[in-house]
Amino acid sequence: MNLIIMGPPGAGKGTQSEFLVRHYHLLHLSTGDLLRAEIQQKTELGLKAQSYSDQGKYVPDDLMNQVVASKLTKIKTNFILDGYPRTSDQVKFLETVLKKIKQKIDFVIYLEVSKEAVIKRLQTRLICPVCKTTYNTISSPPKVDNLCDNDQTPLIQRTDDSDQAKIITRLKTYQQSTQPLVAYFKKQGNLKLIDANQDQASVHEQLKKVIGTPKGTNND
Ligand code: AP5
Ligand code: MG
Repeated sequence: MNLIIMGPPGAGKGTQSEFLVRHYHLLHLSTGDLLRAEIQQKTELGLKAQSYSDQGKYVPDDLMNQVVASKLTKIKTNFILDGYPRTSDQVKFLETVLKKIKQKIDFVIYLEVSKEAVIKRLQTRLICPVCKTTYNTISSPPKVDNLCDNDQTPLIQRTDDSDQAKIITRLKTYQQSTQPLVAYFKKQGNLKLIDANQDQASVHEQLKKVIGTPKGTNND
């Protein structure tokens, strides 16, 4: 089983992907995480991507498509795509790649959440710069204030969460370019709508219910 998880910034795509990876034994492919790693390593791709992501804008399609194609053509397991595709051009490109590698997307998970909730979640998100674990000072705080539970590294804010104007730009970019894809996936018949305004555990439960136990999945 292969999945796409979509939703606005802060909807919980990364958080729910971690759960889906554990529960359904999938490989997590997050384009946001991939780009942040490239930016941290100051690679050519990272330097190109940084100027876009810092402004809350999307990285150009051709760049993003290349990155995803190079990962998907090497992949040997089932996967979850987090944050890709985000534009109609990316949807078309993905369909071509999937055909080539003889894979299909079983479900598109759409996390629906209010604008107020996502703004609050992004303003209170902290991440570990070393192991990349995500926390939230309200809903999932670390055991010791401001320190990562795994390696005790001081937690930081993502640069694109650092002010409200950036968050608003990200939400606008999402509304313009990605929200329209929901109707496309709905028409295709594999869209699963999840109420992501609820707490993390309730979202997990909804996911288990809509996905069920696909054939060949040895979940716990
Ligand atoms: P990306 O990293 O994907 O950012 P995003 O889409 O803005 O989404 P986030 O990662 O901010 O949110 P999330 O939904 O994963 O939420 P999370 O689980 O962390 O992309 C970053 C940038 O890269 C883009 O802006 C763009 O520039 C570029 N990019 C990436 N992909 C691209 C593409 N395909 N094309 C072009 N450009 C691309 O949760 C958020 C917080 O809420 C956390 O603190 C969490 O603990 C908390 N939380 C989660 N669930 C709940 C809950 N149910 N209740 C309460 N709190 C919760
Ligand atoms: Mg994320």
